[in-house]
Amino acid sequence: MRLRYSDVTPEKLYLSRRELMAGAIALAAIGCDVGAEATAAPMPAGAPLKATPNAAYRVQDAPTKFDAATTYNNFYEFGVNKEDPARLGQTLKPRPWHVQVDGLCAKPKTFDIEEVLKVAPLEERIYSLRCVEAWSMVIPWIGYPLAALLKQVEPRPGAKYVEFTTLKDPEQFPGQKPGFFGGTLDWPYTEGLRLDEAMHPLTLLTVGMYGQVLPNQNGAPVRVVIPWKYGFKSAKSIVRIRLTDTEPKTAWNKAAPQEYGFYSNVNPKVDHPRWSQGTERRIGEFRRRTTLMFNGYADQVASLYTGMDLKKNY
Ligand code: MTE
Repeated sequence: MRLRYSDVTPEKLYLSRRELMAGAIALAAIGCDVGAEATAAPMPAGAPLKATPNAAYRVQDAPTKFDAATTYNNFYEFGVNKEDPARLGQTLKPRPWHVQVDGLCAKPKTFDIEEVLKVAPLEERIYSLRCVEAWSMVIPWIGYPLAALLKQVEPRPGAKYVEFTTLKDPEQFPGQKPGFFGGTLDWPYTEGLRLDEAMHPLTLLTVGMYGQVLPNQNGAPVRVVIPWKYGFKSAKSIVRIRLTDTEPKTAWNKAAPQEYGFYSNVNPKVDHPRWSQGTERRIGEFRRRTTLMFNGYADQVASLYTGMDLKKNY
């Protein structure tokens, strides 16, 4: 099946979104914030969440406005439009919640979400997140390295990959109901990383943002953030993390393998079949920026891919 972001959006809605964005760009040109102006969904009240800023991991650019980061989202479980997750997100119940961590490990364990929160000290890291659709945001995330959680279950030597699975529950995620627009992905949403990518210190198990508990639309109660990869690798509302010896199948790769590869490293030299990846629009800005190799994290992660052809392994 050939499926693209625009293909899963009904034409009328897709056009109206384009019109909306054209209007937003016009607003940006006169100094208004694009994301915040584009939608008017009320903000859920986020409980404060304490975290220690980690100065080693912070991009210098100003963070995207909170309103934009929480109203301009991709979360197809709530629909295919950017404003759907903020509008419909209240059906997701982030408590009670469990995360099963299993597969090729010596000590598989199902963690209660309260235990997940205590595995390692919470840090605030300011990462930029580059979406495959050629926009980006700068977000102060709260979490700790995924490696800390994985070490608790003691991966076996045969473990080579990690698979993330998002909750499947059409009562909580209307987009998973048959016939709902966005019912086009093979639910549950799954993603994956090589084990060395998952253990990399940049890979953040994320429970909050902007000093608050994660809003539902951003993947409550727990998600991953992998800042050198396109945003769709950062699976939201995770219920299972499985260690495996084979490359996991991923939701977008299953839907359109020629467009969304397993690696999906941000790479300005490898275009998406339908658009350039050479530049990006930072939400809230008008001018386009040059996209950086590995989203600017090349010094930290390029060595993971030594000797690999990144055009083939897109
Ligand atoms: N996770 C799930 N379960 N479902 C999704 O549709 N969208 C991905 C990713 N994680 C998605 C998901 C995409 S395409 C992006 S760009 C990021 O979430 C967006 O994260 P944000 O809304 O917090 O900015």
